[in-house]
Amino acid sequence: MAAAEAALRDGSGGSEAAGPAMKPWRGARRAALGLALLLLLAPPARAVEPISLGLAIAGAAASALTGIISYPRLYCYFRECCLQRHEQRVAAALQESLDRRLFGQHLVSKVVVRAVRGFLSNAQAKKPLALSLHGWTGTGKNFVSKIIAESIYKRGLKSNYVHQFVATLHFPHAHSINLYKDQLQSWIRGNVSICPRSIFIFDEMDKMHAGLIDAIKPFLDYYELLDGVSYRQAIFIFLSNAGAEKITEVALDFWRNGKEREDIQLTDMQNALSVSVFNNRNSGFWHSTLIDRNLIDYFVPFLPLEYKHVKMCVRVEIESRGYAVDEDILTRVADEMTYFPREERIYSDKGCKTVDAKLDYYYDL
Ligand SMILES: Nc1ncnc2c1ncn2[C@@H]1O[C@H](COP(=O)(O)OP(=O)(O)OP(=O)(O)O)[C@@H](O)[C@H]1O
Ligand SMILES: *[C@@H]1O[C@H](CO)[C@@H](O)[C@H](O)[C@H]1NC(C)=O
Ligand SMILES: [Mg+2]
Repeated sequence: MAAAEAALRDGSGGSEAAGPAMKPWRGARRAALGLALLLLLAPPARAVEPISLGLAIAGAAASALTGIISYPRLYCYFRECCLQRHEQRVAAALQESLDRRLFGQHLVSKVVVRAVRGFLSNAQAKKPLALSLHGWTGTGKNFVSKIIAESIYKRGLKSNYVHQFVATLHFPHAHSINLYKDQLQSWIRGNVSICPRSIFIFDEMDKMHAGLIDAIKPFLDYYELLDGVSYRQAIFIFLSNAGAEKITEVALDFWRNGKEREDIQLTDMQNALSVSVFNNRNSGFWHSTLIDRNLIDYFVPFLPLEYKHVKMCVRVEIESRGYAVDEDILTRVADEMTYFPREERIYSDKGCKTVDAKLDYYYDL
């Protein structure tokens, strides 16, 4: 124990080698043992003729050998592993997925890929990665958190190492807040003990009790170990609508000045966002210490979606249902959405949400 702590302290990256990363090998030994047992037990049970038995043993030995050599990868192919994919592959998968599937969010792609790649390739990370995704409804926050999860764990949100909490669903009653706090802390501790690279997604942060946010705080901080557990490899993703007005304001400003949406820079958003989220009394972030202690590494602004993006969403939805794309229906569905502000009608009220429900009307007869 003391040795392990010392190894962690001098930053030798010992934490990677210890724990779950070892599991496949232990598993490999167990499997090899099982195979040997099987070979011992097989002959009397089946009374095979000597020659084919000899061949079978040779074959089994050969396959056991190659199996053991490539075992961790093979093992992780069939059974999910913590710390499984190489960071370069994660970053490439993430970039590809965002480029192909996410519309109209140039800032999001840039920040998210940079943040995740940087974090995963930093063996000496001083704290877990904390991303805070902000923006108007239906602009892709849950969608992106799902894509991030899938880039790291193939099973995405269904992975045993990915945990999603929805404030209004999992923590609905203000009077049970102390119970929730204890529960949440023990879940985070328990899951990170099992897999250091656990991903926690907190949806509807703006409706989350401030007390609960404070309960998460210690895990996000710059500690080496908390009760013997290191949280430095974990990833926390927070989703909220807080700051959406501010983001829209900036985007609208650009539009009104005849500037391109794609020319909006991160710096146009980030300070404004952090200040507006912090000062908004209705958002759970208010008086929480996440922001003033700089525990959030990246604020990720989601821009409101325009008519053309809604059309792109409709197209994807039609294709995913396996229908031929009918341009007429595509336009009709996009036209049915409502747009704001009143005069210019540029941004979709609900982003790409409800697009699929509207499609039902045209297709499922
Ligand atoms: N920018 C986008 N590019 C492509 N598809 C999108 C985008 N935004 C939303 N969608 C589609 O719309 C669906 C709903 O979006 P999502 O649930 O991610 O919105 P949200 O930002 O979480 O909204 P809310 O704040 O209401 O929770 C997604 O599953 C996705 O199919
Ligand atoms: C991990 O988190 C889930 C909730 O997502 C919880 O049900 C489970 O008990 C946690 N596991 C441990 C070991 O704490
Ligand atoms: Mg959402």
